Amino acid sequence: MHREKWASKIGFMLAAMGSAVGLGNIWRFSYVAGENGGGAFLILYLACILIIGIPLLLTEVSIGRQAQSDVVGSYQKLAPKKPWYLVGYLGVASAFLILGFYSVISGWSLYYFWNYLAGQLAVEPASGYQAAFGSFITNPFQPIFWHGLFMVMVIFIVLSGIKKGIEMANKVFMPTLAIILILLAIYSVSLDGAVEGLKFLFQPDWSVLQDPSVYIAALGQAFFSLSLGVGTMLTYGSYLSKQHRLPGATVGIGIMDTLFAIISGIVIFPAVFAFQIQPDAGPDLVFITLPEIFNQMPFGSVVGILFFLSLTLAAISSSISILEVPVAYFIRAMKWSRKQASIVTGLIMFGLGVLSSLGMGVLSGVTPIGDNNIMDSMDFIASNIFLPIGGLTMALFFGWYINKKEVFAATDLTNSRLRHVWYTLVRYLAPIGIIVIFLNAIGVL
Ligand code: TRP
Repeated sequence: MHREKWASKIGFMLAAMGSAVGLGNIWRFSYVAGENGGGAFLILYLACILIIGIPLLLTEVSIGRQAQSDVVGSYQKLAPKKPWYLVGYLGVASAFLILGFYSVISGWSLYYFWNYLAGQLAVEPASGYQAAFGSFITNPFQPIFWHGLFMVMVIFIVLSGIKKGIEMANKVFMPTLAIILILLAIYSVSLDGAVEGLKFLFQPDWSVLQDPSVYIAALGQAFFSLSLGVGTMLTYGSYLSKQHRLPGATVGIGIMDTLFAIISGIVIFPAVFAFQIQPDAGPDLVFITLPEIFNQMPFGSVVGILFFLSLTLAAISSSISILEVPVAYFIRAMKWSRKQASIVTGLIMFGLGVLSSLGMGVLSGVTPIGDNNIMDSMDFIASNIFLPIGGLTMALFFGWYINKKEVFAATDLTNSRLRHVWYTLVRYLAPIGIIVIFLNAIGVL
């Protein structure tokens, strides 16, 4: 059957960057860095991206490009009749779980964007930003409407195809996103008292490194931010031809993803410190703390519009990459059309999102895992269990199962001086690193 391809290598690069740059860079990075002490966390995070993240990214993209198939089909093709492909199903399942909560938070972002545009959030709600956010996310209808609207956009882009949908959207979104974030960063740095925020982000306080949870947070964030372990990058790689060189491309994607996270940090922390607010507000940082800050700063309503526009664009370009994982699988395995696959898959994800949204309010008593609500449980299973298993499998597949010569050919590393460094990282360091965080995350270590 005919499989689509990217129109150009730059189209692939933008799409992969679009996948990587998302809520993870702006919303998740800022609160995880805030909670873990800033500068020292940033250095650990950079080390994780460089030593484990980028080598695994090259691995994941190469598996897809080599096999020219979806996450299940790729393993079946490269290791016929071997059980590796079972992990592909885990990837498809993770895609459902991740988009099942990611799209709800994206819906919140869309709601904020709309309300800043309409001028509703530019003035502080009578009850204050915190209570207004709380009553919005616990409402049984409102957030589901925005989540639904968000999913409609995501489904529409994916059903329009690789070139006309995904590649096109990213070609528009990514440059727009970069321009807006850079403008916001310049503005934020110009605020009185911004220096403290930059110090927090860039001046390491090494004492935080005594706490093992900082290491786990850094590796987990690197995985999430580079979209590793689900098969997103594998699926995107499968639309590439053999003639494109991969090592440089994956380093470029890793660097851009990191730059976007740092730029978001430069947008957020100087503003947080300029208004003397604590940086460790957690997941609420973007939805409560920032609006409070925007409310006090000159041109805050314009900043609010731009900030939530960029957050929404980043969320869309990541969500389409997550939806594409099961869509590619269903197109091949069930012989569905792209349109049918996108709509059916998107609707199921919408349904999961409804559950995680209701879990903030009327279903808040439902705690599938520990005392986590539905959304946090989905995040927990996907991020702490499925993603590490997916990433570990990819590392073992190329590091141990496929022979070395084929692996170098698949990654375009045959003539590279760095091939042995890469191989050692993928063969030993990545698996060990992943196993350590995995055991830690499930509470064994
Ligand atoms: N990387 C994206 C972000 O930072 C989210 C994302 C897209 C993702 N695809 C993924 C996360 C696959 C984990 C796995 O927001």
